Amino acid sequence: MPRLLFVASEAYPLIKTGGLADVAGSLPEVLRQQGMDVRLLLPAYQHVLETITPPTPVAEFDLAGTRVRIVATRLPGTGLETWLLEHPVFSQRPGNPYHDAHGNPWPDNADRFALLSKVAAAIATGQVPLQWRPDVLHCNDWHTGPAIALTHLQESRPRTVFTVHSLAHMGLFDRPTFERLGLPPHFWQDSSLEFYNQCSFIKGGLVYADYITTVSPTYASEICESPGGMGLEGLLRQRRERLVGILNGIDNGVWNPAADPYLEQGYTAETLSDKTRNKSALQASLGLAPDSDRPLVGLVGRLVEQKGLELILPVLGEILASPVQLVVLGTGERRYEQQLRATAAANPRAMAVVLAYDESLAHRIEAAADIFLMPSLFEPCGLNQLYSLRYGTLPLVREVGGLADTVVDSSPENLASGSATGFVFQRPDAADLLAALRRATALWHDQASWQQVQRVAMSQDFSWQRSAKRYLELYNSPD
Ligand code: ADP
Ligand code: GLC
Repeated sequence: MPRLLFVASEAYPLIKTGGLADVAGSLPEVLRQQGMDVRLLLPAYQHVLETITPPTPVAEFDLAGTRVRIVATRLPGTGLETWLLEHPVFSQRPGNPYHDAHGNPWPDNADRFALLSKVAAAIATGQVPLQWRPDVLHCNDWHTGPAIALTHLQESRPRTVFTVHSLAHMGLFDRPTFERLGLPPHFWQDSSLEFYNQCSFIKGGLVYADYITTVSPTYASEICESPGGMGLEGLLRQRRERLVGILNGIDNGVWNPAADPYLEQGYTAETLSDKTRNKSALQASLGLAPDSDRPLVGLVGRLVEQKGLELILPVLGEILASPVQLVVLGTGERRYEQQLRATAAANPRAMAVVLAYDESLAHRIEAAADIFLMPSLFEPCGLNQLYSLRYGTLPLVREVGGLADTVVDSSPENLASGSATGFVFQRPDAADLLAALRRATALWHDQASWQQVQRVAMSQDFSWQRSAKRYLELYNSPD
């Protein structure tokens, strides 16, 4: 049975801040079900250790001058053996994995994720007292980039795959920090981890991986050009024949409107009228007017520039006047949070804002809303639009990255051919967003046509099976 070590900084349901956790919490399990012998390696954050039953010790060893322990648990809801890297930099740190309560990155993040990378590389190249050694090392995002580079220091190394979930976070650290990490001095060059006089963790994956993947075909093309490549487009173009876009899947067990424990009322494409019970329940719980004559627009996500907040905020008044109701769930930049909160306070019957991370509310919004707003400036894949499609909540998106690959605009032609699943606009311009919203609102008032689009949206298959096969092909392809 081929062995896979899958390394990530977060995985649902143990620890999640965004879509990476959804992917790391579902793809490895599907690969296991498809016949691989998989270990998921995660940091043993304090929060994780507090929420699981006592884990089983797997190994304890000295690495890079410090003592580390690996303990095993099962990823809840799966049969996936998960190895947790126990070290005080992870296990004695409360709260968010990446930053403190004020949103400032933990000052030793370079050391923490260099340690994760060193341990992953050591396991992958058989440098630790373990009976198990992988044929494939699959790393994700900047936190694990150095692991791929470090495998090149050994003669015998596994096949390596590095997945870019976002190029926006590169793991950049200054020279003194690089020197403190004890990485080989030759990593400090442009052909290795150095990037404009800083050390870039993500380059470890981009330069050294046998295959680079990213989470949608369109994003794979976008990052080979400026501005999508964020300065790395030259390197990515050089490696173009090793760069593959594989669309993320979704966990149809966790996101299933027919059997979602968080919902007021489950529903399917055949019982769409039951969906409205979720809308009434959400309106009541958030203090919105119990209107049934205007669509409810939902937005769930990180409140950061990437997600198109600059397009939404200047026209919040026009959005509400379209007329729609709006519900926002998210956390992020203070200035966005403040403006959203102030507008909601001035329009309490039309707009609700919850500035929190709330898994249950995320599900209830997906079920309750008519339209899901996701006008991202860039979007490597995006999962929320996929959840929305499954919940018959038509996504309104900008034509970029994974959004372009997954949502089909309700143009007259696409409506006529029965392929429409949402609303797509092109330019990063608030006027274009508003125009798309007006088209959506108009179609919503034609409920027969709307429900037809909902049924097409709900019948889309974004399960992991197909994408997991593409990863298996990469794992098995000749060098
Ligand atoms: P990204 O990873 O860029 O944040 P994705 O769309 O890929 O965007 O994934 C975001 C994931 O995080 C989704 O599962 C979404 O439901 C979840 N999420 C984001 N913000 C919140 C929040 N405030 N409360 C609950 N879930 C959230
Ligand atoms: C990143 C991207 C998002 C993607 C997720 C999972 O957070 O911003 O588009 O869906 O990773 O791959």
